[in-house]
Amino acid sequence: MRPTYAALTVWASFVLAIGTTSAQLDSYDVRESTIEGIHNALYSGLTSCRSIVESFIARIEVYNPDINAIITLNPDTLSIADQQDSFLATGNATGALFCIPVLLKDNYDISDMNTTGGCLDLADSRPNVDAPVVAALKDSGAIIIGKTNLHELALEGLTVSSLGGQTINPYDHTRTPGGSSGGTGAAVAASFAVFGTGTDTVNSLRSPASANSLFSVRPTRGLISRAGVIPISFTQDAIGPIARNVDDLAVALTVMASVGYDPNDNATAMIPISSLGQDYSAMLYGGSLQGMRFGLVQGFFNRTASNETTPVNEVFDDISAALVSAGATVVSVTSNIFNSTAISTAFDTQRFEYRQDMDTYLSRASLQGAHPSTLNELYSSGKHLVIPSQYSFVDTALVSSTDNNTYAEIRVGIQNLTVALGDTFKVHSLDALIYPEQANLVVKIGSPSQSGRNGILAAVTGFPVVTVPAGFSPSTADAPLGDPIGMEILGMPWSEGKLLNVAKMVTDVKRVRRIPKSTEAAVESMPLGKVPKIVPNTKNIPKVYPIGVL
Ligand SMILES: *[C@@H]1O[C@H](CO)[C@@H](O)[C@H](O)[C@H]1NC(C)=O
Ligand SMILES: *[C@@H]1O[C@H](CO)[C@@H](O)[C@H](O)[C@H]1NC(C)=O
Ligand SMILES: *[C@@H]1O[C@H](CO)[C@@H](O)[C@H](O)[C@H]1NC(C)=O
Ligand SMILES: *[C@@H]1O[C@H](CO)[C@@H](O)[C@H](O)[C@H]1NC(C)=O
Ligand SMILES: *[C@@H]1O[C@H](CO)[C@@H](O)[C@H](O)[C@H]1NC(C)=O
Ligand SMILES: *[C@@H]1O[C@H](CO)[C@@H](O)[C@H](O)[C@H]1NC(C)=O
Ligand SMILES: *[C@@H]1O[C@H](CO)[C@@H](O)[C@H](O)[C@H]1NC(C)=O
Ligand SMILES: *[C@@H]1O[C@H](CO)[C@@H](O)[C@H](O)[C@H]1NC(C)=O
Repeated sequence: MRPTYAALTVWASFVLAIGTTSAQLDSYDVRESTIEGIHNALYSGLTSCRSIVESFIARIEVYNPDINAIITLNPDTLSIADQQDSFLATGNATGALFCIPVLLKDNYDISDMNTTGGCLDLADSRPNVDAPVVAALKDSGAIIIGKTNLHELALEGLTVSSLGGQTINPYDHTRTPGGSSGGTGAAVAASFAVFGTGTDTVNSLRSPASANSLFSVRPTRGLISRAGVIPISFTQDAIGPIARNVDDLAVALTVMASVGYDPNDNATAMIPISSLGQDYSAMLYGGSLQGMRFGLVQGFFNRTASNETTPVNEVFDDISAALVSAGATVVSVTSNIFNSTAISTAFDTQRFEYRQDMDTYLSRASLQGAHPSTLNELYSSGKHLVIPSQYSFVDTALVSSTDNNTYAEIRVGIQNLTVALGDTFKVHSLDALIYPEQANLVVKIGSPSQSGRNGILAAVTGFPVVTVPAGFSPSTADAPLGDPIGMEILGMPWSEGKLLNVAKMVTDVKRVRRIPKSTEAAVESMPLGKVPKIVPNTKNIPKVYPIGVL
């Protein structure tokens, strides 16, 4: 249901009645807002930090019941905003993310809220320290306004969880928002915050970006410390931002990567000196598509014509043509190593690494509140969501480990694939590989899995990817703008700056992103007395996902 203006007015007077009123500056229209736009409004005295935050919360109150993207709001948000207003008053407003409302996927530790992974068995799990990356966001002035739903424990791509229910795609209420970071995807698309965070073990920063017409970075393995984030696989896990435009994405990445070397995530020891302290915003301008070479990965398309695949193929014909018109060369890459099904089957490491990583996370002294202390304990609680056919790797993980001989073979196979991927760049003199994140549209709600995704290549090799909106499928009754389609731009390790530069130029030749129709109407915000309580809708969990059966 799309709220009408009349409904919004009724809602607004209701809030006025229950809220406390204090002298407020004009409210600020936060739809599609950017970091720069908010900073300009704040520094020129057009609005206050309190008012910015209230405007986002008003949108959440009006539209979250439709898309169910939020698990919880930070009760301290308003006092943090007031504190920032006092900095503003004393000319002490600093930080790249000063007063920028941000949502965290609910697998990031923050001392202000519980870290649930969307799992009922972790509802009371309460870290007493911030993940280093969350501390970096706070230090730069970001206001963490709440946490988003995810596919439970980030294990699939449909964004349904026992604690958070099913999140709904704001562009098409019959479809999922992708996943596992689909709560962040739906929320950022609906302008519930300026940007949000996600995690990605196979596809999860890219599928929600693709399905919600957004931008994301899956960084090179090691660039951003993953300490304090619910893990699955230290080989494949990566964390990063999801945003509405490339400029905000670059600022968010700069702050998240500023953690640098972190002894609690050894992969960060790999960061080359040239990438330490990198300012990615400074790398967005000055490039040219003229003379660039892109490899279009043929093996990552589904050429069987259907309503789910043809729109993706057509969008890629368009974007290839746009790149060529801008002076780039698009090379067809046909090597048979680019087969996502084959890569997943042969090289996925999750089932060997999951239990060890999870046991380490759950048994830390800094994790308080009642919670299981091992993966086995969690899975014997019955307080979780299970899709038996999809969770077979969890079955294996409960008994298996990195001592398994198969694991050693897989590590060698991944090295081979990594060399072959690097060779592909060399042989074709490529700047980047391009391909659809999903060879088919994001699936309908109630589907048992999200098929056709191509995230596994970057996940196992650790190469970086920037995902950008590429187009929309044709408009239908369910999807008035069509369903969003996203493109992955994959580069050599540590080439995030170059990939963001390419992404910026791609958006210049093909401006795609649009605000969803269902959340398009402005919401009038009113002063709030306190942060409202959000109760996720768990009545809408599709029947194919029984809770508590393994
Ligand atoms: C200035 O702002 C920073 C945070 O941005 C804060 O830690 C510091 O206490 C403030 N100083 C004054 C004098 O307000
Ligand atoms: C968070 O966990 C604590 C226990 O650690 C619990 O009392 C509280 O109700 C939880 N908060 C929410 C919002 O569920
Ligand atoms: C990091 O590496 C050291 C040395 O190999 C090892 O002792 C330690 O357990 C590792 N830490 C993590 C978090 O993997
Ligand atoms: C495919 O799309 C066409 C045109 O929008 C529509 O008429 C047709 O019913 C769709 N087919 C299926 C199987 O949904
Ligand atoms: C991709 O790999 C799968 C599984 O290994 C195989 O069944 C399929 O035929 C391969 N596809 C192509 C186009 O080679
Ligand atoms: C080792 O890995 C293989 C392949 O995944 C699996 O079939 C087997 O059950 C594992 N064995 C143990 C003891 O973990
Ligand atoms: C890795 O490459 C080597 C050398 O090409 C080859 O002998 C080996 O079979 C490959 N291993 C796997 C698991 O692909
Ligand atoms: C390709 O698309 C068709 C039509 O949607 C679908 O039936 C088929 O399963 C897809 N193939 C793969 C490998 O995903």
